[in-house]
Amino acid sequence: MPVITFANAKGGAGKTTAALILATELANQGYRVTILDADPQRWISHWHDVTGRQRNIDVISEVSMASLQGHIRENRDTTDYFIIDLAGARDALVATAIGLSDHVMIPVQGCAMDARGAAHILDLLGQLAEKAGIRIAHSVVLTRMNALVTTRAMTAIKALLSAKGVHVLDTPIAERTAFRDIFDCGGTLATMDPAKVSNLDKARENARLLALEVLRLVPARRRRAGALSRLAA
Ligand SMILES: Nc1ncnc2c1ncn2[C@@H]1O[C@H](COP(=O)(O)OP(=O)(O)O)[C@@H](O)[C@H]1O
Ligand SMILES: [Mg+2]
Repeated sequence: MPVITFANAKGGAGKTTAALILATELANQGYRVTILDADPQRWISHWHDVTGRQRNIDVISEVSMASLQGHIRENRDTTDYFIIDLAGARDALVATAIGLSDHVMIPVQGCAMDARGAAHILDLLGQLAEKAGIRIAHSVVLTRMNALVTTRAMTAIKALLSAKGVHVLDTPIAERTAFRDIFDCGGTLATMDPAKVSNLDKARENARLLALEVLRLVPARRRRAGALSRLAA
């Protein structure tokens, strides 16, 4: 049961949206997902309240530094993927969640490329590796990408980041009405009505490709020995 955490010290980077798209798509594909809502603003918990029970999805609200490890330990046998949604903060809860993760996803808005919030998380990951010898896999996820952004521009952004040694997911998350509507109306991409949501098919395909890439990158039943022993401690 790998732990995937969405982190960016900046609010509005697209963390919660990316986390929910991934979580609901994995659940849709049959994986049991537990979302740990560690953002005091409770966006995902609110989504869950509006949506009601969803097959394969559990949402745990008001996750704190003290309770985080316990939630993972208690639910590990019934969870294929933990997804942690963090506040846009630089606090101890963010650092703790990152330390318990198998993979950290860092959403960066493709249009803005304002990477300061991302840089903070990358610094934190660097310090964990340098000072504690804990190496946590991580990737930048380009999000809110304009559908018109060319392959060439994408390649340039990736080259820029990989020159700094940062892995970038091949699948960007596009700017889509459907990804906003999930929060406004509840439900999932699978339950939305294509007659009412523009380009729903494209949003669904985007989510499918994103999940596919994440499944390859972070396989379901393999857990890094390091993260496991840190949890057992
Ligand atoms: N791919 C997307 N398509 C359309 N709107 C998006 C997308 N990603 C984020 N947004 C919108 O941008 C705002 C910030 O996104 P959010 O996921 O809440 O960021 P964060 O969790 O990092 O604060 C929200 O209003 C959200 O609806
Ligand atoms: Mg958020």
